[in-house]
Amino acid sequence: MAHFTEWVTRYIMHRIDIISVQPKLMESPLNHSIVQRAKDKGIVEIVLHDLKDYGLGKYRQVDDTVYGGGAGMVIRCEPVFDCINQLKSERDYDEVIYMCPDGEVYNQGTANQLSLKRNLIILCGHYKGIDQRIRDEIITKEISIGDYVLSGGELAAVVIADSICRLIPGVISDEESALTDSFQDGLLAPPVYTRPADYKGLKVPEVLQSGHFAKIETWREEQALKITEERRPDLLD
Ligand code: ADE
Repeated sequence: MAHFTEWVTRYIMHRIDIISVQPKLMESPLNHSIVQRAKDKGIVEIVLHDLKDYGLGKYRQVDDTVYGGGAGMVIRCEPVFDCINQLKSERDYDEVIYMCPDGEVYNQGTANQLSLKRNLIILCGHYKGIDQRIRDEIITKEISIGDYVLSGGELAAVVIADSICRLIPGVISDEESALTDSFQDGLLAPPVYTRPADYKGLKVPEVLQSGHFAKIETWREEQALKITEERRPDLLD
């Protein structure tokens, strides 16, 4: 029974629905590596939706010119509301996320929080952006992956999906390895080495070959702190 309960709580299905005008852009990264493994294990389901399927008229129009004038096109309300309302009629969602350069800047803390959610919708922006009424009415979280502008939210959505998947229990076989990622303890990760111990005179630090686990742990902690101080002192504030 304990085993069954553990199985249910650990291997709960997570679903991420990603809505975009360019869903094909995301296919390769979401069909390989850890994300593919998460899908194969039945732990994560990722569903791509083409916003044009909800477009208006014969030409499946999803965008229009900016009210008040100005360059570029804006994604219209109708296709987005229709797509999201359809999804919401099928299941409950924990968050409806909009990828945009003016959102909250993504970090490991947000990845950890999102990995605990069951069902997420991610809406990718494109063109000049999306009609503000969508942001006001249905978006619950706005995320940027950094202070630069991408051509659309697709690559950013892939970043979010990948970072979430690797945190879900059962996805990475040795759970430790996700927990020892950089940022998980607020520090950058220490250096790692593999064989040979001596590559043309370049040697692996002796402590790592000592087999003394306590000393190795201390060395790793010291290195993580040193590297963080050098590269990202802001993380220590
Ligand atoms: N769309 C365009 N630029 C973006 C960014 N930096 N983060 C998230 N979505 C975006």
